[in-house]
Amino acid sequence: MAYKFLLNFKLTLLIILIGKENIAYKIPSVEIEIFKERGFKISIPDDPGIQRIFFMMIADESCPALMDYITQATNDSWSSTQHISLQNNDKLQVSVLVQYNDHIYEKSETLVVLNTRLLNVQQSSTRNIITKNINRNNGSECQLYLSSDQRLSKQCKPTSSIVNSGSTSQGICQGALLFEDNFSEAQLNTSVWMYDIRQRMYHVEEELVAFEDSPQISYLREGHLHIVPTVASEVTEGAYQLGDRCTAIESRQLECSISKGSFHKIKPPVYSAQLHTRESFNFKYGKIVVRAKLPKGDWLFPYMMLQPVSTHAETHYANQLRIAYARGNDYLRNTQNDDISGHRLYGGIIVWHDERAVQILKNRLSTKHYGDDFHNYTMIWRRDKLTLLVDNDIYGEIKDGLQFFNEKCFIIFGVTVGGFLNFDDSILMNDVKPYKNKHPRAAFSFWHNRNTWASTWGKDSAMIIDYVRVYAD
Ligand SMILES: *[C@@H]1O[C@H](CO)[C@@H](O)[C@H](O)[C@H]1NC(C)=O
Ligand SMILES: *[C@@H]1O[C@H](CO)[C@@H](O)[C@H](O)[C@H]1NC(C)=O
Ligand SMILES: *[C@@H]1O[C@H](CO)[C@@H](O)[C@H](O)[C@H]1NC(C)=O
Ligand SMILES: *[C@@H]1O[C@H](CO)[C@@H](O)[C@H](O)[C@H]1NC(C)=O
Ligand SMILES: *[C@@H]1O[C@H](CO)[C@@H](O)[C@H](O)[C@H]1NC(C)=O
Repeated sequence: MAYKFLLNFKLTLLIILIGKENIAYKIPSVEIEIFKERGFKISIPDDPGIQRIFFMMIADESCPALMDYITQATNDSWSSTQHISLQNNDKLQVSVLVQYNDHIYEKSETLVVLNTRLLNVQQSSTRNIITKNINRNNGSECQLYLSSDQRLSKQCKPTSSIVNSGSTSQGICQGALLFEDNFSEAQLNTSVWMYDIRQRMYHVEEELVAFEDSPQISYLREGHLHIVPTVASEVTEGAYQLGDRCTAIESRQLECSISKGSFHKIKPPVYSAQLHTRESFNFKYGKIVVRAKLPKGDWLFPYMMLQPVSTHAETHYANQLRIAYARGNDYLRNTQNDDISGHRLYGGIIVWHDERAVQILKNRLSTKHYGDDFHNYTMIWRRDKLTLLVDNDIYGEIKDGLQFFNEKCFIIFGVTVGGFLNFDDSILMNDVKPYKNKHPRAAFSFWHNRNTWASTWGKDSAMIIDYVRVYAD
């Protein structure tokens, strides 16, 4: 049945939209049954006015679209059975055309397979279509015309990207811009970006910093987002209390305050910023391009990454797709005497097993520090391959570990200080760092030795982001 209609009916669909006020029939949500063996059945319930139904389905990355033309209800429903198998996380786009009392109605839905169930992620409202040339006396040849949306999605290369950005239900083409921020407004768009407000010390990842939303630390200027890590003026007077401003969800007790008086605890020695799109934009598969200048200065560390939506920005041991990073230090070597300073760019995957990081990274060494200039950092995330580019040159491809990123991810940008994985003591010579990871007095020691690092910070210590763009792939 599936392709027969194409041969016999030469169905072209004419769709001219008219207002929703004329809707006399509303197409119900499609019901889908996934078979234990291969295949699935899609259906909508019968209604006395329905004369025929046309289903078009695009299963993850599979071209051509599956089509079925149904002229009769069976068992009180109009259904189409397909024999392709759907896997977990596959996306199924369904378009339904219903001829109902000689009018044509159209609707599209996007569903995602989750644990053998289908989750409806997008649904358009029913649209009525003026049907100019349904000539019912002309044998079984009827003429309909495709809507502009559908013409588009039929002509373009189908994307494997999945997005949540709210409203549109148009078919997404490969290469389509899914998300963009040029940071060219006067103010950061706070319905897109959310600042983290919490501190990172005395906790598993041991970053020596508090994230704030202060306009002195993070701001837009001349079309760029600036994040400027700022050294505290003092760290011992009073307690550190964020109160209701604190955005931590999972570890409020540890991250929203530091009590005064415990003998080795100090207030954060550095204030910086981190922001993310968890609540506004996330996607699975695609190409992300960030034009940015990375921060320079000892023990500074930039975050430009994607993190699964099942985690929060603050989640410890969260798996991460690192778009790019370079350490702030101008000079830093590991115990094997390899250069691991800001002259070496890294990108790739970090996944955690039993609180241990498995890092699958690619890198490129440069004669200059990556914080000396703006660069275009690109990551292309596909189901089976991660490709890393800097200024359009590929410096790495990763095929392992991607199975841990089987869900949509959101964008995080930030600048941190230290961090037990970022500056791992086990790969550094003993006397290099002014503090020891996981030592109760780490933050105090870092502060106490600030003359060794604060002088390396300056006008280049900011992370400056020109734009971020995400394209469907
Ligand atoms: C209709 O329903 C009956 C009883 O549930 C079932 O035996 C039959 O196979 C169904 N027919 C179709 C075409 O699904
Ligand atoms: C039937 O449709 C064809 C085009 O699809 C048209 O050329 C022909 O004139 C039509 N016949 C009648 C009787 O309307
Ligand atoms: C962002 O900048 C690009 C390149 O200058 C431009 O084409 C695009 O329209 C801008 N987007 C917005 C939302 O301002
Ligand atoms: C902020 O972003 C939202 C969502 O993309 C958009 O609708 C709104 O127009 C933006 N606001 C400004 C001031 O650009
Ligand atoms: C980075 O991208 C911009 C366009 O957004 C382009 O003008 C510039 O040449 C690119 N830089 C490099 C080094 O490729």
